[in-house]
Amino acid sequence: MTYKHRPEIDTIPAYKQGKPAPSAPGVRSFKLSSNENPYQPLDSVKDVIAQSLDRINRYPDMSGWNVVSRLAEEIDVAPENIQLGCGSTEVITQLVNLLAGPGDEVVYPWRSFEAYPIIVTGAGATSVKVPLTAQGTHDIDAMIAAVNEHTRLVIVNNPNNPTSTSVSDAGARKLLASVPSDVIVLFDEAYFQFNTDTDTSVAMDLFREFPNVVVAHTFSKAYGLAGLRIGYAVGPAAVIEGMRKVALPFAVSDVAQVAAVASLDAYDELDSRVQNIVAERVRLVRSLRELGYTIPEPQANFFWIGFGEKTQEAAARFEAAGLAVRVFAPEGIRISIGESEANDVVLEVCTSLAEDGFLS
Ligand SMILES: Cc1ncc(COP(=O)(O)O)c(C=O)c1O
Repeated sequence: MTYKHRPEIDTIPAYKQGKPAPSAPGVRSFKLSSNENPYQPLDSVKDVIAQSLDRINRYPDMSGWNVVSRLAEEIDVAPENIQLGCGSTEVITQLVNLLAGPGDEVVYPWRSFEAYPIIVTGAGATSVKVPLTAQGTHDIDAMIAAVNEHTRLVIVNNPNNPTSTSVSDAGARKLLASVPSDVIVLFDEAYFQFNTDTDTSVAMDLFREFPNVVVAHTFSKAYGLAGLRIGYAVGPAAVIEGMRKVALPFAVSDVAQVAAVASLDAYDELDSRVQNIVAERVRLVRSLRELGYTIPEPQANFFWIGFGEKTQEAAARFEAAGLAVRVFAPEGIRISIGESEANDVVLEVCTSLAEDGFLS
């Protein structure tokens, strides 16, 4: 059917959701394709969710005050500096819609989070994708060189999805020193709780020092609430005010809001899960390197193997073993850290791939 619409929308590749775990008779399967937290919600969180069900005939509080005021206290900023969204994907969308339209450019690393090109094109703006270095890290100098008078936003993804690499403090500061102070720099830190790199940039520190920093965080990953859709941005009050104007009304459900507050209350328990995931990541990547794999130092709850031309063939072997992983052919495969049983299967598959000449 032909119908009148914006032609640039036809250029957007549909967002590919991580595949569900493959099912095969007699094979235990695991979903390692969406960087989710493998643990079920805490009982304390399930309890408040159950209690909130009686209120779902009502709209949620649009300002999300209970979450916003709690976060403000926790991270020591004013409530005017915080905006909620239906996942951090929505706060990033709000920011892009506020800042950029036709003729404006948004600079970001590539490969990176797949939602960026969708959001930018959806706003009618132009993506300027700056290739990662050969090590899978942000090419800060090339990002600086890509900024011009049309640039309305620069996105830093730390750690970067899908390579899991972190952005150094020095690199982030170099970027901020060169971007004009009226151009916003977004630090998308969806996975920061898993980042153990001592040299990493810390977006909240940068927010306190530079006037043009916006930070995006989420409850989806370390807090394990991906299915409830809640994330937030921290930014200058004027920017947050603008984001609120373009936000989808009532996008963050009451269930998500109460679960977020309960998760903040229980963060010690959640943090011990994060530490388990980090320990599993270290165990797995150490073993893979011993097998001869070259893996960029991962700082999130996933890691990257560059299989190149053999990506599709390698992907079939993971699937046959009952593992859903994220395939970016012909570049490589992103694998989320799952429960240790799942990680053991990853190791088995990688061992047999190494024996069969797949080493990256
Ligand atoms: C880099 C990055 N940013 C943001 C998100 C968005 O997460 P959510 O919308 O669930 O908060 C993701 C999710 O995979 C991500 O990988």
